Amino acid sequence: MLLRTFIVTAILILLAPVPAMTQANAASIPHLAKQGTATQLIVDGKPYLVLGAELNNSSGSSLEYMRPLWPKIAATNLNTVLATTSWELLEPEEGRFDFSLVDGLIDGARRYNLHLIMIWFGSWKNGKSTYQPAWVKTNQQRFPLIQDEKGKGLPTLSTLSDSSRDADARAFAALMKHIREVDGDFHTVIMMQVENEVGVLDPPRDFSPAANKAFAGPVPKEFMDYLQNHKDTLIPELHKRWEAAGFKTSGSWEEVFGAGMDTDELFMAWNYGRYVGHVAAAGKAEYPIPMFVNTWLRQGPDKPNERKPGGYPSGGPLPEVMDAWRAAAPAIDILSPDVHVPNYDDWCTWYKQSGNPLFIPESRGDARGVAHAIATAAKYDGIGYSPFGIDRLVSPDGELGKGYQLLAQVAPLILERQGLGKVTAVLVDKDTPRSKVRLGDYTIEARFAPRSQDPNAPVASPVDRVAGLFIQLGPDDYVIAGRSINVYFESATDTTQSVGLVSSDEGQYVEGRWVPGRRLNGDETPDWRALWFPGDRYSIQKVKLYRYR
Ligand code: DGJ
Repeated sequence: MLLRTFIVTAILILLAPVPAMTQANAASIPHLAKQGTATQLIVDGKPYLVLGAELNNSSGSSLEYMRPLWPKIAATNLNTVLATTSWELLEPEEGRFDFSLVDGLIDGARRYNLHLIMIWFGSWKNGKSTYQPAWVKTNQQRFPLIQDEKGKGLPTLSTLSDSSRDADARAFAALMKHIREVDGDFHTVIMMQVENEVGVLDPPRDFSPAANKAFAGPVPKEFMDYLQNHKDTLIPELHKRWEAAGFKTSGSWEEVFGAGMDTDELFMAWNYGRYVGHVAAAGKAEYPIPMFVNTWLRQGPDKPNERKPGGYPSGGPLPEVMDAWRAAAPAIDILSPDVHVPNYDDWCTWYKQSGNPLFIPESRGDARGVAHAIATAAKYDGIGYSPFGIDRLVSPDGELGKGYQLLAQVAPLILERQGLGKVTAVLVDKDTPRSKVRLGDYTIEARFAPRSQDPNAPVASPVDRVAGLFIQLGPDDYVIAGRSINVYFESATDTTQSVGLVSSDEGQYVEGRWVPGRRLNGDETPDWRALWFPGDRYSIQKVKLYRYR
């Protein structure tokens, strides 16, 4: 009996498919890991802060075009480039793959000591389908399109098609297999973005016959189970809607969540999540590096038509439908916002819900963008930041180049402290010129100082929003960095005590080592107790504090 069990087990082991990545390998490839309350990206065994930027959409399709760009990108102090790989160029004929562009991008990045985040422009890009190969585009029988309320086809692949999903997944798996083969030991490619800003544009949902049938049918059991198992931690908007319809545990989408556009959006979120999650899982079976999706956000009150599902791509991973994505797409590690709207802090807070790690794949690359990059890393324990359109942002003297030069110096200090309550940042601007935060036993306040302290240098700072970066080294020791701010300290534990500066040195981190410059005092320390960060550059100060009565 024992022998028979042994033989059967041995046969089963021999017949089992060999996993593409063994566990031992998987641990050393780029992955996510927790540190305190933060989730960090680990590259080559160390936490990594993405100081990134995304290429324009078509740049990665020509290695010739990229050639003169690489050195400029490297000189802008980035460590990571987000570059597109499109399905149409990867698989021009079904089953025939061309990896030359992928190889060329990896090679270019390596030459300039950069990492890559690859963006898979597969079935969708910005709510439309324009990057699928001709053999997909022209065969709507096999690869059906979304339809609007009147039954008119839109140039967007429907999520309700297994043949589209499987064809996309096969191509993405081939891409990941190739990346493992050429990069599994090098880790130039550190993350993948799967598809781009998905969702239905114009109608609030897909009205094709297959979609109508699924919408009228029961909410899938997997989603109902997820809702019940996560009832206490659901995103508040979804919890409220489920509660309003009576916390039903089965029924059609409209029975369980009520009728309306929000339910249309939730239905689409589930279906995009299922499709994209399937594509990601097929890729991860070949090479399981972290994978994320990005989101076209609901716009602000100045654009009322873009605040309803369909005005922005309906079903993309917006905060109110995060739970549908989590349940439908466990292979997706991060749901990311593309922040092209002004209320940066709000979106970071919403995207940190339910333990979602924060990564910003698209945003702005000006001085305000630098402030947001600092806040992402230090206030929100984020994995990194990436403005869109590096092609036109490249320059070491531009705002991004200067900001990333600062962040590159302090990144190791930030990463060591993320999730442990020893690093933070505040954002200040003309509408919120002062902001305070507690760090250790001190309350630290940044005051926006757009005009120079020095009356002989009357040039106003060109920046309209800045960040103060606060790093705690010891009970009374801090590293503070920023631009166009004054920084004040108070005791957070005893308000009868005043706080003074034992010393403040400006300086730089060179290869991780502090190299002090001037000892600052007098006119350089406003009110004899504050720090001054001038508006013409980013600077770093190392301070020691004391208390007196
Ligand atoms: C958002 C998209 O995700 C990008 O691919 C690009 O089209 C930008 N918008 C353009 O601003």
